[in-house]
Amino acid sequence: MKITISSLLIATVAATANAEVWKITSMDKGTRENTCSRQIQACQNNCGGPSLAPMAFCNSTTMAWGCGCLNNTPNMEVWNWPVPAADCSGSLNVCKTNCSVKNTNECFVNCTKTHMCNTEDAPVSYTSASDVDIVPKYVGPAVSYKGDKLGDLNDGNNRDNLSPSSSHSGSSGPKSDSDSAGSQKEATDKVNLATRLQLTGAAVLAAFAAGITF
Ligand SMILES: *[C@@H]1O[C@H](CO)[C@@H](O)[C@H](O)[C@H]1NC(C)=O
Ligand SMILES: *[C@@H]1O[C@H](CO)[C@@H](O)[C@H](O)[C@H]1NC(C)=O
Ligand SMILES: *[C@@H]1O[C@H](CO)[C@@H](O)[C@H](O)[C@H]1NC(C)=O
Repeated sequence: MKITISSLLIATVAATANAEVWKITSMDKGTRENTCSRQIQACQNNCGGPSLAPMAFCNSTTMAWGCGCLNNTPNMEVWNWPVPAADCSGSLNVCKTNCSVKNTNECFVNCTKTHMCNTEDAPVSYTSASDVDIVPKYVGPAVSYKGDKLGDLNDGNNRDNLSPSSSHSGSSGPKSDSDSAGSQKEATDKVNLATRLQLTGAAVLAAFAAGITF
């Protein structure tokens, strides 16, 4: 009995050490593959079948994912797709793990407030991509899908230079978006298009590059 308990403790410590800085690609291979296959399947179901889902992809190495249907706009809320949902719960776990440093109840409460996973208040996941070969950004400004600025996600990633307010310098937007992100109108069009394509993470960055404040 005692041996079982101490080996459980060792396993917990090892898992904790692995997860100091959250990145979705640090999930083990099996979990990545499982999450990806659920992602592709959810997209295909949403489109009405595999043949109607030409843009259902998920790269189990990078976790880049996308969903585009032939006949309909995917109607799954972005925060509920398997990959962004896994990104949120992983970040939440590391947030809580890191509370052992501060070890205050407020710290755990903060993690719960900043990680309302599977809701529009969840932190935006920067995992979506326009193609299976494109490596996602992973880390972006801490904002919710609703557009609210969130507190410190406390998951080991430094977002100090990624805050929405500092992006007015125009230097923090993604290269692919910065050339055409001149006006709010354009950015809004992009957000609309991106939302239809489920490219929310990239869209939020594009909006920041265009100076839209949340
Ligand atoms: C909890 O969040 C608030 C608001 O962001 C912050 O001021 C406070 O320092 C946080 N507390 C801890 C223990 O991280
Ligand atoms: C996943 O992305 C990597 C990096 O861009 C790429 O080399 C690889 O071919 C992609 N895998 C699949 C299955 O497309
Ligand atoms: C844990 O929180 C402290 C205090 O905010 C921070 O300095 C440290 O980088 C965090 N560590 C991880 C692994 O998130």
